[in-house]
Amino acid sequence: MRSVIRFTPVLLVMVLATTAFGQIIPGDPGTYPSVSIAGSPHNLNNFPGVERADGQICIFCHTPHNALLAGEANVLWNHAETGETFTMYSSTADQPEGSSKMCLSCHDGVTALDSYGGTTTGGTTPLTAGLSTNVGTDLSDDHPICIAYPTSDPANYNDPGTFAPGINSGPGVRLVQINSVDRVECASCHNVHNNGLGDFLHVPIQESYLCLQCHNK
Ligand code: HEC
Ligand code: HEC
Ligand code: HEC
Ligand code: HEC
Repeated sequence: MRSVIRFTPVLLVMVLATTAFGQIIPGDPGTYPSVSIAGSPHNLNNFPGVERADGQICIFCHTPHNALLAGEANVLWNHAETGETFTMYSSTADQPEGSSKMCLSCHDGVTALDSYGGTTTGGTTPLTAGLSTNVGTDLSDDHPICIAYPTSDPANYNDPGTFAPGINSGPGVRLVQINSVDRVECASCHNVHNNGLGDFLHVPIQESYLCLQCHNK
């Protein structure tokens, strides 16, 4: 009897703790954790042979001057671009451009992590560093990218105006404009700068909330 009386408050505290901390509730951005780049796998200082003595984080991807790409959406890019040809989900889709090409400049599993700032002779690819998160060059078995979002098919695809907010109540799932077309790209689902929800997602994958932002199912 005594053990039951002692057990109950402990259980209650545990239940309260899981509700107050750590439970992600899809649709309630107040419950989405925030983990900035420094504490995420996108802090490339975590990788032997790539880490910098000065501990800079942004420099693997961005530079304040002399960016490697020109034009409006170049985001001051500083990492060597992938030179691979990709197999797309749909054979009619364009090759990756813009921010998706930026992601694939590491996630192709070919371009070295330490090829940045004008250096193209880096030696450390995610593969040689023993990592398993390469998307690779065959994108035919991945969710389609480089595709126009069907904005006038409400029976199957939700109005982008209804996309819900993400971490810190910032942008959630979003379309990326390339060649004046609103498209689905890597950055539609992923937030390269924040890993609070894991896998750098904009909104929770729990209950397939991410998928249901776009797919009316
Ligand atoms: C692993 C690569 C990577 C790292 C590291 C990185 N970024 Fe980015 N950043 C990107 C990519 C890719 C884009 C373009 C795609 C997008 O906007 O989602 C971008 C876009 C941006 C933009 C323009 C769009 C926006 O979100 O406002 C800013 C500003 C920016 N980054 C700042 C930073 C700063 C500051 C740091 C360091 C604290 C940093 N980034 C670290 C990859 C990176
Ligand atoms: C400068 C190189 C670089 C660029 C550019 C880059 N990444 Fe990464 N990314 C990495 C590395 C390195 C890891 C960690 C790999 C590991 O630990 O297995 C990683 C991990 C990830 C992960 C897994 C995170 C986790 O929780 O395990 C995702 C998802 C991801 N990246 C998506 C993206 C997307 C989307 C873009 C473009 C918007 C991008 N990355 C751009 C290097 C990069
Ligand atoms: C339609 C949404 C969507 C798009 C578009 C998308 N991803 Fe993902 N990605 C996800 C989800 C969801 C996960 C987590 C998968 C899981 O939990 O099994 C993920 C996981 C990942 C991982 C981690 C995989 C691992 O094995 O740990 C990487 C790396 C990644 N994505 C990179 C990319 C890159 C690069 C692109 C563009 C070429 C891209 N993603 C496009 C939704 C997407
Ligand atoms: C940013 C919006 C968006 C998100 C988020 C998204 N999708 Fe998609 N998805 C699309 C679009 C657009 C297409 C391609 C439509 C076309 O061109 O036929 C597509 C295609 C697909 C297809 C292939 C359909 C076919 O006919 O070949 C599947 C399956 C799918 N998505 C499942 C998912 C799942 C599962 C998730 C969550 C992990 C997800 N999607 C997240 C927009 C999205």
